[in-house]
Amino acid sequence: MHIERTPLALLPTPLHRLDVLSRAVGADLWVKRDDLTGFGMGGNKVRKAEYLIADALRCRADAVITLGAEQSNHVRVIAAAARRSNLACHLILNGAGGDGPLRGNLLLDKLAGARVHRIGSPSERRGAITALVSRLRESGRTAYVVPVGGSNAIGAQGYVDAVAELAVQLAALPPRPTTVVFATSSGGTMAGVLAGRHVAGLDVGVMGIRVDADEGAAEGISFIARDVARAHGASYSCTPGDVPLVADYVGEGYGIATPECIQAVGQVYRQEGILLDPVYTGKAMAGLLDLAHKGAFDGRRVVFIHTGGEPSLFAADASTVEALTRPAGQA
Ligand SMILES: Cc1ncc(COP(=O)(O)O)c(C=O)c1O
Repeated sequence: MHIERTPLALLPTPLHRLDVLSRAVGADLWVKRDDLTGFGMGGNKVRKAEYLIADALRCRADAVITLGAEQSNHVRVIAAAARRSNLACHLILNGAGGDGPLRGNLLLDKLAGARVHRIGSPSERRGAITALVSRLRESGRTAYVVPVGGSNAIGAQGYVDAVAELAVQLAALPPRPTTVVFATSSGGTMAGVLAGRHVAGLDVGVMGIRVDADEGAAEGISFIARDVARAHGASYSCTPGDVPLVADYVGEGYGIATPECIQAVGQVYRQEGILLDPVYTGKAMAGLLDLAHKGAFDGRRVVFIHTGGEPSLFAADASTVEALTRPAGQA
């Protein structure tokens, strides 16, 4: 596998302690600010895009196709990264009804100049990609397809880098058993973190808090983690059982904020001035706080990787906005 990289992110992202939240929760909480990767409003997807866009250029593509939910952070970042490299960008988004209000990530997709194509349900994805690739080929273009979430062995390289960065930052702190916690969905971040931990020989616990229900996720993640480690010359026998996923905080499903998620978004903003999102980081933080209350991290340092996603807060539905701004949040 080629490991080429198109630099986009502002690195290293800061690692800092959450003093007020730590005091409130009675735990030693830190945050790795991957929300501040900068490019195209930042987040974890920027680290993946550095490798995916480099690979598209290596393949001499002149168009990029990717897909996701209407408020996908991944789609937003790939659109901006493709356009920066002068590649056309086509997005296959859920929602046969066409564009609603242009807000949040969708607004940025359009600002980047991406072409949006709609499908009725995720089951139509494969057919839509095939049709689009051949339509582009007929018009003389070469398309490069980026999978959902940028989660393959190429995109996951970005989180091998993130772990190497974190290893340097942790080495500058007093030694303490540490657990790294973050939101997990399509799994590329987890695969990269596991491979990166193996490659760097970093002695930390890892915990991915699921934001959607996907029973088979661990298998795909272990496969990618092995592949990524191999690209770094390391043999890593990661099995599905080695993938540390916590599925207790999903609630009703992807994109449906739980009351605890709403509470976590408000608490972290009021106590630390750090914005989480209602789809990914809010749910993951709700899980982290609950586990901290239950003593799961006693004696440990907890590093929350803030994977970004804030633009979707500005496209939240009315009931989420109402819950977030209910007077209980007032001092
Ligand atoms: C803000 C945010 N956090 C976390 C994730 C999860 O990352 P992964 O899909 O690599 O599991 C995503 C994925 O879309 C995301 O947008």
